[in-house]
Amino acid sequence: MRTGETFWTEKLVLVTGGASFIGSHVVDQLLARGAKVRVVDDMTSGRLDNLRPHLGSAKLDLLETDLREPGVTRAAMHGVDTVFHLAADHGGRGYVELHQAGPASNFFLDGLVFAEALKAKVKKVVFASSGCVYPNFMQADTSQVLYLTEDLTNGPNDADNTYGWAKLMAEFTLKAYVKEHGLGAASCRYFTVYGPRGVENHAVIAMIARAFLKQDPFEVWGDGTQIRNWTYIDDIVSGTILAGEKISDGTAVNLGTMERIQVLDAVKMVFDFTGHKAKIKLRPDMPTGPLNRVAENSLAKKLLGWEPKVPFREGLQRTIDWYYKTKDREEVQRIFARMLTSR
Ligand SMILES: NC(=O)c1ccc[n+]([C@@H]2O[C@H](COP(=O)([O-])OP(=O)(O)OC[C@H]3O[C@@H](n4cnc5c(N)ncnc54)[C@H](O)[C@@H]3O)[C@@H](O)[C@H]2O)c1
Repeated sequence: MRTGETFWTEKLVLVTGGASFIGSHVVDQLLARGAKVRVVDDMTSGRLDNLRPHLGSAKLDLLETDLREPGVTRAAMHGVDTVFHLAADHGGRGYVELHQAGPASNFFLDGLVFAEALKAKVKKVVFASSGCVYPNFMQADTSQVLYLTEDLTNGPNDADNTYGWAKLMAEFTLKAYVKEHGLGAASCRYFTVYGPRGVENHAVIAMIARAFLKQDPFEVWGDGTQIRNWTYIDDIVSGTILAGEKISDGTAVNLGTMERIQVLDAVKMVFDFTGHKAKIKLRPDMPTGPLNRVAENSLAKKLLGWEPKVPFREGLQRTIDWYYKTKDREEVQRIFARMLTSR
């Protein structure tokens, strides 16, 4: 089996949602590894700008359309070796908690993509799953040093809103297709991803945006004691591509750091790095999500040889540098309030 340097050379790979934050970084890395990449993205939250360096390249085939339109997904599968399925109706905490109908469309979207992949005899589907598959009832106590292991979705289940249930059902579907139809598949459970090209509906970028806008008082949703393991984009992408090389039996792996960081500590780091000083205003009325969500990542180490390389402090600094270099204050001001709860 080819792995590493030459694994992707000249392979045709479909990246659904390839104009998104994470999707576009997956595209960058697949192209850098010599693959030919087809992207299907309806641009509902994806951005053409994320693919700007590759536009016009013969190695990138970009289809700006909805995968659910008749015939689109079937045509997109033609000649494809591996599918990275990242297209989803998805947003940050404010979106996932306040919207159930939108993410419910993922049940159909995921089912369609998997069924067409099977019909087209693609070798493998790599699915962008989420830490939202884990039972919320287990993640309520911040005094507990909890690391979520993959087997915690064996039941009883209590996924995180419709969004989380759709991710979990998609994983189950892929496992069934592996077992009953011989499809190759892997699911990667991403934990709160951040980095360049991230958007303001996710906590880290929202914090940076508040500092960028010099918000005072500086709003923090919940009581600020929520624990997360924010994971840097480059680590997520390397793990996803390794899953495409090394997992075929439908196994789901956590891709997340094991750092336990409280929201208020992250805010302090944002203040340190940006020089912004402000009074903190807690907003217990706003969505907080589970209070204690951190991955256990030894399965990814074992199956993929993967370990996160970027500690939060370093990734945060890089993300702040990117944000301050590329953003326009008036534009951020214009979109910020809406973005917190939308996609
Ligand atoms: N950002 C995170 O922290 C995180 C965590 C866990 C999982 N994920 C998953 O990773 C994937 C990428 O997320 P992201 O944060 O980069 O941003 P995102 O939500 O913007 O990505 C979704 C992409 O899919 C496209 N899309 C949506 N519906 C489509 C359709 N019907 N047809 C074609 N394209 C469609 C959007 O335009 C967008 O480019 C998603 O599946 C998301 O659920 C993200």
